[in-house]
Amino acid sequence: MAIETRLTREWGLDLPIMLAPMALAGGGELAAACAEAGAFGLVGGGYGELDWTRREWGLATQRLANTAAAQRVGCGFITWKLDQDASALDWVLDQPLAPKAVFLSFGDPRPYAARIAASGARLVCQVQRLDQVPQAVEAGAALIVAQGGAAGGHGAAAATARSTMVFVPEVADWLAANAPQVLLLGAGGIADGRGLAALLMLGADGALIGSRLWASAEALPAAAAKAQAVAADGDATARSPIFDVLRRKDWPAEYDFRALRNALHREWEGREAELRADPAAARAAFDAAVAAGDFAGANVTVGEAVGLIRDVPGAGEVLHRICAEADERLAAAAAFRHT
Ligand SMILES: Cc1cc2nc3c(=O)[nH]c(=O)nc-3n(C[C@H](O)[C@H](O)[C@H](O)COP(=O)(O)O)c2cc1C
Repeated sequence: MAIETRLTREWGLDLPIMLAPMALAGGGELAAACAEAGAFGLVGGGYGELDWTRREWGLATQRLANTAAAQRVGCGFITWKLDQDASALDWVLDQPLAPKAVFLSFGDPRPYAARIAASGARLVCQVQRLDQVPQAVEAGAALIVAQGGAAGGHGAAAATARSTMVFVPEVADWLAANAPQVLLLGAGGIADGRGLAALLMLGADGALIGSRLWASAEALPAAAAKAQAVAADGDATARSPIFDVLRRKDWPAEYDFRALRNALHREWEGREAELRADPAAARAAFDAAVAAGDFAGANVTVGEAVGLIRDVPGAGEVLHRICAEADERLAAAAAFRHT
């Protein structure tokens, strides 16, 4: 049996799942593999680096050209970074095979809405707080992603991050009352069919999945990083600004970053002000670790869902497993009812 939701019906998908746009980790091969499997694939345009976006969008579109799956691929960008340089967005929207959706997160999407709409792409906005939802609707979002604090990578800073379990139904209620035509996905901590089934119960039309697909064959991270993720449990990650300082990324204070708490991260926990004040030595240690492929220093960017990841199969297999398990769970749920 297949799971049918508004997402699968309105977006022409076989599976109610969208690949999260993952900066540096989710390139063209991963997006294409997800699209071929019947989900929606997003290239992680991330910080909007033109060369990277060009190469990875090219890989996705070469693989998908003249296939039905070309209708199921888009590109994501970090919105506050577009405010500095939107050339990668402009470039991708001009391509003969242009994105079918543009995914924006971490900033005000409204300045980009008209350009995206004119290209024919749907706008997807990821939100971390309820007060961002009206802004996304005003921008014309066709789909909103409610991101909870369990998510890998960037999200609302630890002090204000919302729980996926509560945030998704709260956004579902708001949309039902104010913008019922806008679809909703949940994100943050979804790695198996239990998570997908739970999101559907919470009122979402499907799931946006990052970490679980980060640990797939087509994702770009090094095999050694994926092996560390497979070995880790869900207690092993934390949200903090530490890796952003180490990577010289000037993120607004309202966001921070979840990754494995490796040795270098632990060294700076609770000492973030000190790190910001004098980052040179720590950055040198970080750079050396990245150059050596040493993940005691380099970041392994996954969320709490890492505790549910036990292997690194192809993305298509990951997606089909999640949907088959969700389908079983939804069918089995009927057993909880009695007359
Ligand atoms: C490696 C990695 C990189 C990410 N990069 C981005 C990004 O560039 N833009 C973005 O909007 N979200 C990014 N995210 C967050 C995802 O959009 C999504 O919210 C998150 O992966 C969902 O939670 P999960 O990791 O538990 O599936 C990233 C997540 C990961 C794991």
